[in-house]
Amino acid sequence: MTAATITQSTGAAHTRIMGVGAMRPERVVTNDEVCTWIDSSDQWIRERSGIATRRFARPEQTVVDLALPACQDALAMAGVSPSDIDAVVVSTVTWYLQTPSAAAVLAERLGATPAAAFDLSAACAGFCHGVGLASDMVRAGSARHVLVVGVEKLSDFTDLRDRKTAFLFGDGAGAVVVGPSDRPGIGPTLWGSDGAQADVISQTEPWTAMRSEDGRTISGDWPSLAMAGQTVFRWAVWQMAPVAQKAMDAAGVRASDLAAFIPHQANVRIIDAMVKQLGLPPDLPVARDIEHMGNTSAASVPLAMERMLSDGTAPHGGLALLIGFGAGLVYAAQVVELP
Ligand SMILES: CC(C)(COP(=O)(O)OP(=O)(O)OC[C@H]1O[C@@H](n2cnc3c(N)ncnc32)[C@H](O)[C@@H]1OP(=O)(O)O)[C@@H](O)C(=O)NCCC(=O)NCCS
Repeated sequence: MTAATITQSTGAAHTRIMGVGAMRPERVVTNDEVCTWIDSSDQWIRERSGIATRRFARPEQTVVDLALPACQDALAMAGVSPSDIDAVVVSTVTWYLQTPSAAAVLAERLGATPAAAFDLSAACAGFCHGVGLASDMVRAGSARHVLVVGVEKLSDFTDLRDRKTAFLFGDGAGAVVVGPSDRPGIGPTLWGSDGAQADVISQTEPWTAMRSEDGRTISGDWPSLAMAGQTVFRWAVWQMAPVAQKAMDAAGVRASDLAAFIPHQANVRIIDAMVKQLGLPPDLPVARDIEHMGNTSAASVPLAMERMLSDGTAPHGGLALLIGFGAGLVYAAQVVELP
């Protein structure tokens, strides 16, 4: 008897981002409001982080509520209907249920059922992980159109009394549709992790530590995100520019070929240091959406991409260098053609 061979799927030769959408919650939180919670000043926050405002979702709004309109806009721009989506990937660390995934709930609300749906936990690098994964899925033939959403409701997990983090984080969602293309529109993803530094950005207490002795009630402080700001800052400044450079090299693209640089929006001083280290042209449009949105973790890159395209700072069809980095520590970068 001859052994059966397994038929392999084959996908599209190339991929691209077909559309992008954004959701920015209505409530604008100013630095002056932040200074009613912590001992700080508008000037200090602007100078040390570049943040002027951030957005907070309403208490009852969930990660799925934020993701939905961003996805609908991305689908409309891509000209793809929800029923043509084969997979929904939600990059988030702030969905409030251990299970079911935000992606499964979102797929149903979008009308994308029975698309594959799962959440991806890669913190501030989550969106770039999702884009890399989606591109590989489309090229391998396990999906034709993939919806990738970066979404966070960090206001639920920020200790508003912690002066090291209370001014930093915000809420929002950004989504893209990744699909087949007649030319390469998404370059190779450069990604990696360094779990030896797991403690530099992490949840203050594991959920299990909040369990009372009776095993049924909850005690202790609500967990929030804690961060060794300076350690993260140095890691981002020194380790991430070489990763971005490798993503350009892997794509066969030079700095002069780029139409935009869209890094994770963690701190405007990190962004400026990366621009300098990469030797990017002085007139290259660089995302500085952090001024308006604060650090929205997985949502920051697609939110910044959407803003640059809608206000005309970056051209449709131009090449953009993306990089995300954060808790894990983890990172991912790639060059993409803007939708
Ligand atoms: C958080 C961050 C903005 C703090 O900036 P910094 O320049 O590193 O600030 P430091 O922690 O060194 O503190 C500097 C001084 O400001 C003070 N300070 C700290 N927080 C303050 C606040 N909210 N308001 C006013 N002063 C503050 C400190 O007490 C310290 O005072 P001292 O010099 O008298 O001791 C910066 O470290 C950062 O952006 N880190 C990376 C964040 C990041 O990328 N996080 C997510 C990764 S995805």
